[in-house]
Amino acid sequence: MKVCVVGTGYVGLTTGICLAYLGHEVTCVDLNQEKVDLLRGGRSPIYEPFLDELMHEAAHNLTFTTDYAEGVPGAEVVFVAVQTPSLPDGQPDLRYLRMAAESIGRTIDGEFTVVVNKSTVPIGSGNWVESILRESFEQFHSRRAAGEFAVASNPEFLREGSAIHDTLYPDRIVIGSDNPRSLDVLNRLYRAVLNQSFTAPTFLPRPEEVGAVPLVSTDLASAELIKYAANAFLALKISYINEIGKLANKVGADINQVARGTGLDARIGSRFLQPGVGWGGSCFGKDTAALIATAAEYSYDMPIVSAARVVNQRQREEAVNKLLDELRILKGRKIGLLGLAFKPNTDDLRDSPAIDIARLMIARGARVKLHDPIAAERFRVEEPELAASLCESVDEVFDDSDAVVLVTEWPQYLELDWGKYVGLMRTPIILDGRNVLDPQRLSRLGYTYLTIAGRPVGL
Ligand code: UGA
Repeated sequence: MKVCVVGTGYVGLTTGICLAYLGHEVTCVDLNQEKVDLLRGGRSPIYEPFLDELMHEAAHNLTFTTDYAEGVPGAEVVFVAVQTPSLPDGQPDLRYLRMAAESIGRTIDGEFTVVVNKSTVPIGSGNWVESILRESFEQFHSRRAAGEFAVASNPEFLREGSAIHDTLYPDRIVIGSDNPRSLDVLNRLYRAVLNQSFTAPTFLPRPEEVGAVPLVSTDLASAELIKYAANAFLALKISYINEIGKLANKVGADINQVARGTGLDARIGSRFLQPGVGWGGSCFGKDTAALIATAAEYSYDMPIVSAARVVNQRQREEAVNKLLDELRILKGRKIGLLGLAFKPNTDDLRDSPAIDIARLMIARGARVKLHDPIAAERFRVEEPELAASLCESVDEVFDDSDAVVLVTEWPQYLELDWGKYVGLMRTPIILDGRNVLDPQRLSRLGYTYLTIAGRPVGL
């Protein structure tokens, strides 16, 4: 099928490349010429495992352009995957969505086109986009729209760092539309994913447990709410385990055992119960804020979602408090931070706990030394005032430091030769911000092991 994807961020690019891999003819439109030039040269503007490889394999089905007129006319499906950053009041900024809808309305020219909201957009956006499309179509074509297009919502559930995997092997596909014809078109588009009939890429084989993928078809508003409900639930699951972790600390329980013993209850599930400095990234903070802001429009408050946000912010502050308890004075101390990305396997720094923690330490008079195996380059560009604190190597982070905090659990940090660093530090204090290190082993090596959540047993 002929498909157009507007916006080449994590969601748009992954969607476009995966659909091209599945055999569709995909044109990706982005107004950023620099990005389009990179993509035309076969290089991805973001770090995402296997994206380059898949883009290479699907190159014959992929076109990148800054011109809507090259992608929209004749497309059966147009995905809108533009950014929707937060405004100060928590509502998402919809100006890019409006611009995209206007441009699509002007260039739509086919028998029937489904315009799909893929970005996470406030509830009601489907109707809003439909009215902009209609206005723009009618202005440009000087006639009334008569069933040439319909709007659908197809929320995205991929995680950064495993975006390709999540797109090819999803837990479910949700399609919301008030027009039955759209459902039929999107059903055809996703058929190979729904029945898992495509040949899996050699570098990303199909997991054994993956069978037919459930399709959830709903009205527009329900699909839009499913996305927010899912993200807010995951966010509060993390905050919940972090809250229990604090109590574990007080009563002398081991939070990792508590999380395991709780999560094995199939009704709860063991994923997203990893305690630590809390969530970051472009989604959980933004989407929980948007959900609360939407509810407020209806004079409704959401205490559970609000509390999840409060607990998350507390976790970041807790990293500083833990070191303060141990070192007593932070002024003049050298504190190393391992990891800057909001989680491993991505170079995304949006709402990263590491940046907040670094700023809180600096505000207390400490000197920070920062390291990340992949995100350092992006950090230099996006955080220029902190860039001077970047270290070239892990050795530098430990050298003469008063404490080192593991903030992002990159696999390479888990396999460090910890014995080598203990003698390099001024005081060998490790704060395990993700509860992933072995406290017994580190203690044997001579470190003082600290953790954000409780794990004092045997230490
Ligand atoms: C999240 C959702 O997981 C996706 O389903 C959704 O599509 C996406 O948002 C989105 O709305 O676009 P993402 O933000 O890429 O995906 O990353 P996650 O893997 O969910 O991690 C989010 C944060 O939670 C990270 O900072 C991670 O370190 C933290 N986390 C995760 C924990 O602190 N504990 C856990 O147990 C799991």
